[in-house]
Amino acid sequence: LLSPAPSQCSLEMLTHHYGDIYEHSPWVAEAAWQHGLTEAHDTPDALAELMGLMLQQASSEQQISVIRAHPDLAGKAAMAGELTQDSTSEQAGAGLDQCSPEEFARFEYLNVAYKEKFGFPFVIAVKGLDRHGILDAFEARLNNDAATERQTAIEQIIRIARFRLRARAEQ
Ligand code: GUN
Repeated sequence: LLSPAPSQCSLEMLTHHYGDIYEHSPWVAEAAWQHGLTEAHDTPDALAELMGLMLQQASSEQQISVIRAHPDLAGKAAMAGELTQDSTSEQAGAGLDQCSPEEFARFEYLNVAYKEKFGFPFVIAVKGLDRHGILDAFEARLNNDAATERQTAIEQIIRIARFRLRARAEQ
């Protein structure tokens, strides 16, 4: 179970404790509170499902702003130590901090090409992937059209949020 229990939280408490589950986007937690939380939402997966629904129902402008709140994978902000705690541990968990100079250069090239094509950064739930798997997915997704890629990014962000909530409950 999540602690504090989401169903017992004021709007301010929910935002304080769960506002960072979606990267720099506390409005997703606020929308879940406005929707109405019951004891059924006190598990990580149930809260994750409701928050995910809030994001799926948001306008495409709001969805794109959440995608844009994500840092590049193996990017300059990561190297400068400027990421949120969650992003730092997710990127390190996939070994992205251990890239060879050639792999960093490949990420740099793909980060630029992807943002040029879609206008937002490449987001993927990296849990269970290593940097080779991430690079393969990166190359494949670069071939998608913009609408497919926006929906794929949103689905991946919802997965990331579920992993973050599960990790929060285990502490
Ligand atoms: N997937 C998991 N964490 C991150 C992140 O910090 N940035 C991007 N782009 N994708 C992620």
